[in-house]
Amino acid sequence: MLAPLMPRSDVEVIWHQLLPQPAYPFPWPFFSFLDAFPESVYLDPPAVAAGNFDPEGEFDLIILAYQVWFLAPSLPMTGFLKSPGARVLRDKRVISVIACRNMWITAHCTLLRELDRLGARLSDNVVLTDNGPLWSTFITTPWWLLSGNQGPLFKVLPRAGVSERDIARAARFGSALADALPRIKAGDPGPFLTGLEAVRVNPLTMLGEHIGHRSFRIWGRLVRLAGRPGQFARKPILLIYAVFLVGAILLVLPVTMTAAAIAARLSRRILQRAKALELPSGSSGERLPRYDPE
Ligand SMILES: Cc1cc2nc3c(=O)[nH]c(=O)nc-3n(C[C@H](O)[C@H](O)[C@H](O)COP(=O)(O)O)c2cc1C
Repeated sequence: MLAPLMPRSDVEVIWHQLLPQPAYPFPWPFFSFLDAFPESVYLDPPAVAAGNFDPEGEFDLIILAYQVWFLAPSLPMTGFLKSPGARVLRDKRVISVIACRNMWITAHCTLLRELDRLGARLSDNVVLTDNGPLWSTFITTPWWLLSGNQGPLFKVLPRAGVSERDIARAARFGSALADALPRIKAGDPGPFLTGLEAVRVNPLTMLGEHIGHRSFRIWGRLVRLAGRPGQFARKPILLIYAVFLVGAILLVLPVTMTAAAIAARLSRRILQRAKALELPSGSSGERLPRYDPE
């Protein structure tokens, strides 16, 4: 995404990789993966290493790139947002960049609340998701995370994750930012990335996320009552929840998706809500011929 900005002598980019301490494993052992869910949902931050930037420094733009874990910002990002270094965000313009399977709306709403708390302003939101069919990503993503094998699986299920093509195409955002530099320098609040298909809300996943988030909160509270992260006492509840979750994905999700599909056709309100969630950058593509002429 930032490749078009890097060679410019008039732009200084400071990179900071969020390093949780201790690091999360990859591939994930089964219980470590499940064990991360209560703290993800309850925004219970891990320690993260301090940044190589001055939290009191002046920055024209801050780009927060994160993955979604259990419908919440991933724990390394939560760790940063709750750390003293997050005061760098005060009064700054922020572009969020999400990479995930395809359920990011709840995490985005959480991030908006955190930015509000920290006194930052969202200029743009860019979302990169797995393009595979929804049903197949429920198999390929956990398989990848738990085994390290990104696929394609059994020669039929597409490779998990954001595609190389979509990653390469993210250069369009950097090119648009480069052209927007005079506006950025002048203090324009943005958005800077409209017309580039930065984000598309699938109204069908909205209901699934709502139900999933509620269930994560209920079960997450139970697990947290049982013990601290990593403690053996959490394992039986996590195991029961894993069985419940697989059942819910197999049974509840198809039913809610069908209901949501019908509701989305019928309800203007749902479609309006989906459009509102695409703001500020939006899903339209009128500037693609200029920035992504492929
Ligand atoms: C613990 C964990 C929980 C996850 N939960 C979600 C989720 O709720 N929604 C989603 O769309 N993707 C979810 N994912 C998939 C990640 O967003 C996925 O790892 C990301 O797209 C890949 O980025 P990476 O290669 O930088 O890890 C989860 C991944 C992990 C490790």
